[in-house]
Amino acid sequence: MQLEFDSERLSFRPLELDDLDLMIELWGDPDVMKYIAERTYSPEEVAERIPTTTRRAGDGCIGVWRLTHKETHEKLGTAVLLPMPAELDDTDWDLVNGGPVPDEDIEIGYVLKRSAWGQGYAPEACARLLRFAFEDSPMEEITACTDPENIASQHILRTCGLRSVGMIRAYQSDLPGFRITRSEWQARHS
Ligand SMILES: CC(C)(COP(=O)(O)OP(=O)(O)OC[C@H]1O[C@@H](n2cnc3c(N)ncnc32)[C@H](O)[C@@H]1OP(=O)(O)O)[C@@H](O)C(=O)NCCC(=O)NCCS
Repeated sequence: MQLEFDSERLSFRPLELDDLDLMIELWGDPDVMKYIAERTYSPEEVAERIPTTTRRAGDGCIGVWRLTHKETHEKLGTAVLLPMPAELDDTDWDLVNGGPVPDEDIEIGYVLKRSAWGQGYAPEACARLLRFAFEDSPMEEITACTDPENIASQHILRTCGLRSVGMIRAYQSDLPGFRITRSEWQARHS
């Protein structure tokens, strides 16, 4: 499984412990965390969490990728394919333990540091990770959810071909849900 790949402007690499600097910047910023958690994390808390966040499953195709600008090598954010939690408030990391692709819905997500917003990096990352999911992994369907007020993210998901499926159960809430199947993705790219 080729887990390192590029898009037009971005490099994707599996998240490593060495990416602590990036994760401190992301998880410590209230603007970044506004729609994805009810809180920010201190550098000490991030250091505690990062070993869990670097876990992978399903031959490595489930996990977190670090996004780096191809030319400047600046770390810009992360993109994920992870089991969607329904009645938990966070990913069930026990499912991301080197084993097979979990049976749960697999969610796509992306988080950019504030200085990287507004430049189209998230749609680029989402489109490339979908390509990875449907060309290089065994996944048959990708799901996403957003905060009801995260209009930018909903726009990105639609732009990348996910269809709105109404409210879905995720993160202990009923949230706007989006899905795309392998055949839907193939039809868009044939
Ligand atoms: C949400 C986030 C991923 C957006 O990423 P981005 O790369 O800055 O996205 P952009 O600003 O380039 O906008 C992408 C598209 O959404 C549109 N958009 C942005 N804000 C919008 C809004 N409030 N209403 C409607 N469309 C909006 C842009 O016009 C653009 O559309 P286009 O591709 O048709 O030109 C980024 O702000 C972020 O990382 N936020 C914190 C984490 C987060 O919320 N992640 C998503 C969790 S579901």
